[in-house]
Amino acid sequence: MLSEKYPEEIQNLLKKYPSDQKRAAVMALLYLAQRETGYLTKPLMQEVADIIDISITDVASIVGFYSLYHEKTGGKYRIQVCTDLPCALRGAEEFLEKLCENLGIRVGETTPDGLVTVERVMCLAGCDKAPLFQVQTKDSIEYHENQSVEKAMDLINKWRR
Ligand code: FES
Repeated sequence: MLSEKYPEEIQNLLKKYPSDQKRAAVMALLYLAQRETGYLTKPLMQEVADIIDISITDVASIVGFYSLYHEKTGGKYRIQVCTDLPCALRGAEEFLEKLCENLGIRVGETTPDGLVTVERVMCLAGCDKAPLFQVQTKDSIEYHENQSVEKAMDLINKWRR
């Protein structure tokens, strides 16, 4: 349980906000909850909701909105491709489809070696540089713009070596 594992950290986070505004700590608490496993289960979301007295639906909507929170376990590298309209107009859908085809997975899946997960996300604020994606690992996030499937596969093959 989150509150048993990190009682001090939780209290320190809550102290940063007025007592009648505990809900403002939701993002920081989710980040803490996700730290160990790399993703947020329903029980973890429920616990965060209970700590700050909001509904699990509110918590789940935040988790679903931000690409930095994950609802499923993933590979060592999480490739998140923007397919929002401006990027779709620059070929992002085809890019995503072909990338997955090359990796032998479907969108949202992880390669059998556990190395790469490919996900579809909303705007990453680089609309004129599509196709683009962000790569999340446990400790980092980086952006790759003006991509082709060949360039992306070169990057993935570099990770494999
Ligand atoms: S729409 Fe894709 S980065 Fe903005």
